[in-house]
Amino acid sequence: MEDKNNTDLKIKNLHKVFGKNKVLNGIDFELTEGERVVVLGPSGSGKSTFLRCINWMEEPTSGEIYFDGVLVTEKNIRKMRRNLGMVFQHFNLINNLTVMENLTLAPVKLKVMTREAAEKRAKELLKHIGLPNKANAYPASLSGGQKQRIAIIRAMMLSPEVLLFDEPTSALDPESIGDVLELIRELADRGMTIMIVTHEMSFAKEIATRVVFLDKGKIIEEGTPKEFFDHPKTPRVREFLEKVL
Ligand SMILES: Nc1ncnc2c1ncn2[C@@H]1O[C@H](COP(=O)(O)OP(=O)(O)OP(=O)(O)O)[C@@H](O)[C@H]1O
Ligand SMILES: [Mg+2]
Repeated sequence: MEDKNNTDLKIKNLHKVFGKNKVLNGIDFELTEGERVVVLGPSGSGKSTFLRCINWMEEPTSGEIYFDGVLVTEKNIRKMRRNLGMVFQHFNLINNLTVMENLTLAPVKLKVMTREAAEKRAKELLKHIGLPNKANAYPASLSGGQKQRIAIIRAMMLSPEVLLFDEPTSALDPESIGDVLELIRELADRGMTIMIVTHEMSFAKEIATRVVFLDKGKIIEEGTPKEFFDHPKTPRVREFLEKVL
């Protein structure tokens, strides 16, 4: 069962259907430790669904997902999720909990850390992002950029192997976008394995080790940022790039 190489994630023939809507149509994909994959594609192509299937927020209709060589199933997904941090466009902090409670909830509930250890780590991370005095604040009192940076350190609390980001800056004002991208860049510099859906093309070029382009639920092109942006192979990608660059 255990197939220990450096492949964090291996996806075989992933399909997802909502009613009659075939959203993912056979995705084969691998993610190796230390890679940073940017997922691009038109609206509705299935980018969010792809990320959500990876951590089983949506159950795949068919196909296989292996994490560290182990087949992910309904039975072991809870354990797997500890290694898959996820950050969304709309932060998803729990509004009636303080920042500290948001940060410590999962690690304490999952019994991965004692409350004391979780609070210590939360304080370190808050200090690291320049918000040491927000531990007792409620999300409503924070700016979008602050909420998103806290959502990112919440994902880091369990020291996941992989971080998944779904448009982490789309809901932010320009100044906060810079703060959030800087934090993601720093995680990248520290060797974090990352998958990110983003519309920030210059950031994508800078951070990606690989770009994957989804169209109608299929990966139709992938390559290094240089290959992808400078020498796109398919007319569909050329058309997309003409619009967004
Ligand atoms: N929970 C759901 N139930 C039914 N249909 C869904 C659900 N989630 C997504 N879809 C449909 O799946 C398709 C792909 O949606 P998805 O959100 O994955 O696209 P996307 O590439 O992330 O788009 P965007 O760039 O706009 O975020 C859309 O047609 C959407 O309506
Ligand atoms: Mg989306």
